[in-house]
Amino acid sequence: MKKKLFITRKFPAQIVEPLREYYDISQWDEEEMVIPRDKLLAAVADCEVLWVTLADQVNEELLSHAPNLKLVTNLAVGYNNIDVQALRKRGVMATNTPGVLTNTTADLVMGLLLATARRIPESERYLREGKWKSWYPMQLVGKDVSGATIGIIGMGRIGQAVARRAKGFDMKVLYNNRRRRHEAEEMYGFQYASLEELLKQSDFVVIMTPYNNDTEGLIGAEELALMKDDAVIINASRGGIIDELALYDTLKEGKLWAAGLDVFEQEPIAMDHPLLTLSNVVALPHIGSASLETRTAMLMLNVKELTAYGQGKAVTNRID
Ligand code: DGY
Repeated sequence: MKKKLFITRKFPAQIVEPLREYYDISQWDEEEMVIPRDKLLAAVADCEVLWVTLADQVNEELLSHAPNLKLVTNLAVGYNNIDVQALRKRGVMATNTPGVLTNTTADLVMGLLLATARRIPESERYLREGKWKSWYPMQLVGKDVSGATIGIIGMGRIGQAVARRAKGFDMKVLYNNRRRRHEAEEMYGFQYASLEELLKQSDFVVIMTPYNNDTEGLIGAEELALMKDDAVIINASRGGIIDELALYDTLKEGKLWAAGLDVFEQEPIAMDHPLLTLSNVVALPHIGSASLETRTAMLMLNVKELTAYGQGKAVTNRID
């Protein structure tokens, strides 16, 4: 008998179809809409394998509705949507998608650096709104990325990929991480700094640390107050790491140059969120890994795990 697999989103048919060799598949049939919680809880009742996105909370509540669940595969490298302790207690395995989205996400971070520093979205709005009457010296002036100091909080795969790119812009790279990256320090000259020093010295602060109990609210009013008045903060990790209202207040008081945010505490962000009223906030809808190549690679990594499990083999990228 085939194993029962439930997929919480409509994924491309050509990616899902080959899995039918091993699985009896049911799927939420919407590409854009998250499956309502009650439907998800009903759908997991008899499934052995669950394929989720970061919008689906896999927690004690879900597990209590899924007595046969053995494997959860997450279409993301970040897995704050999964209560790993709860999974462990029940012996349920889980996998994520490390490695394949490193470069794409680092590229987007550089995009946010340039967009905020050089006011690219604001300048485009200015042109489209018919405000461009002439060229003048102080028109839409930004700040330089080249030669500035970047401070990266979270020096995992993506943090290091951002740091290497920053070297290409002749930036001085500071980083803060639970573990020192001695090899990267020697090879590229990245410098370790305490969080406080990093915040004080950086022109660009980039958050790349995973979201967990230790990093929730890591950057609040006090930390923002340590930053230079013309510094930029970038977050392409998870929204809950920055206190958004404190960020709004700091920006509103003119105490930072700009913020580049690909992630928010609540996603999608409410359209009346105060941060969206500020022209120096570049806000994106969580597109860090959104290139065709990378999203396909993420899906295929999940497929690889699902195929292995279907064949009775071990899954690899385990987070449990
Ligand atoms: C991840 O993988 O964690 C991203 O946030 C989604 O691509």
